[in-house]
Amino acid sequence: MNICVIGAGYVGLTTAAVLAELGHEVCCIDKDQNKITELNNGKIPIYEPGLSEFIAKNTNRLSFNTNLEEGVKKASIIFICVGTPSLADGKTNLSYVDAVINEIAPCIHSYKTIITKSTVPIGTNEQIYEKLLAKKISPELFNIVSNPEFLREGSAIYDMLHPDKIVVGLRQDDTQSLPIIQEMYSRIQAPYIVTSLNGAEMIKYASNAFLATKISFINEIARICEAFHIDVNDVSKGIGLDPRIGPHFLQAGLGYGGSCFPKDVKSLEQIALSKQIHPLILQAIQTVNDTQIDVYIHKLKTLFPDLHTKKIAVLGIAFKPNTDDTRDSPAERLISRLSQLTCDVCAYDPKAKLSRDQHHVRQVNSLDEAIKGADCVVIATDWDEFKQLDWAEMKKQMNGTIIVDGRNCLNRKEIEQCGLRYVGVGRG
Ligand code: NAD
Ligand code: UGA
Repeated sequence: MNICVIGAGYVGLTTAAVLAELGHEVCCIDKDQNKITELNNGKIPIYEPGLSEFIAKNTNRLSFNTNLEEGVKKASIIFICVGTPSLADGKTNLSYVDAVINEIAPCIHSYKTIITKSTVPIGTNEQIYEKLLAKKISPELFNIVSNPEFLREGSAIYDMLHPDKIVVGLRQDDTQSLPIIQEMYSRIQAPYIVTSLNGAEMIKYASNAFLATKISFINEIARICEAFHIDVNDVSKGIGLDPRIGPHFLQAGLGYGGSCFPKDVKSLEQIALSKQIHPLILQAIQTVNDTQIDVYIHKLKTLFPDLHTKKIAVLGIAFKPNTDDTRDSPAERLISRLSQLTCDVCAYDPKAKLSRDQHHVRQVNSLDEAIKGADCVVIATDWDEFKQLDWAEMKKQMNGTIIVDGRNCLNRKEIEQCGLRYVGVGRG
């Protein structure tokens, strides 16, 4: 099949590479000339494990271009994979999606299946359909499909090749699109959930909101565990073995971040409010998450009454391990708070860069440089590299003895055996 993927970000690049791997001819379009030039020179603009090799393997069926018209004209399937960030009021900024629709419209001269992979508020795909009709595009020439994406950064390719489901949202009278989607994904084994356009959009939001709920729930439980000297990791294991609860997304820590959970929970809240529904749980999830950094700042202030004089090594800048993505990163939120408190902050991450300059904060290129002379080390992102540290060696290089485990991912005993003091959240 001939496919055009619009947007060469985390989702667009992965979609394009996976579709090429499945045997399709794929043209990936981005308006960012630098990105396309890099891609055409064999450089991948993001860090996503395996993506670079995967793209290289499929270059015979995969091209990159800034020319949307060219890509759309020759394709029978068009994927929309552009960003849908938050507006200041928490609603979704649909300007990138709208721009794509305006650009696609004049290029529709033969039948196209237009598939939205970007996460968009309920009703957006219906509106896209109406907009194209309003632009005098014949309904015989196109259909709109919602096919939300559930990949995780850090394991994007695996997730897209092995999804737990394929969600397809269709207009009520659309009898053409499902067989096209099934043919396109014929080499992927997964159950199909076929629903309305609105239904598919809601599955995506409900999925992210539920996962965020689990995280805020365990973070709240961790606060209670702390007061009773209970180890919340034991509680996560204990409740996680119940198949009705499940073991995933029960790791307490600095809270959730990234380009999706924060914006999608906010957006779903706004979607509910637009229908005069007061979303109590969605608001509580965000309140817990927004105050999770306070828990750690309070701990640090208690440990160091003269915190502003201390050198703090922050290990991790990315919002989670195995990515260079710092969008809404809890690690960066913590770094900002320490900067405001005028601590001497030394940050290190294996892949991510600080997204902005801040007073009293410097990023270093090695772990050794970060911890040298530190009064306290904070694990802010649970990279494997940090979980496997040689704590005896760390102690020799540090000035102080405090290890704050902002992801509850370290072995407390090992650290204490080396004469260091372990501080987690709700770790007894
Ligand atoms: P991103 O910011 O990494 O990439 C978006 C790309 O779209 C950018 O390269 C931008 O230059 C390009 N773009 C914007 N307008 C364009 C236009 N008019 N023409 C061509 N290119 C254009 O975004 P992302 O993280 O890949 O997310 C994309 C969408 O997928 C969002 O709606 C997000 O919520 C959703 N999503 C993301 C993930 C994830 O893990 N990142 C997972 C599932 C769903
Ligand atoms: C998340 C979802 O897991 C994907 O299914 C979804 O497609 C994607 O959002 C999206 O819509 O963009 P991602 O943002 O890549 O994927 O990362 P996650 O692994 O879900 O982690 C999100 C945040 O939660 C990270 O900051 C992580 O550190 C935090 N987290 C995760 C916890 O604090 N505790 C946990 O137990 C799990």
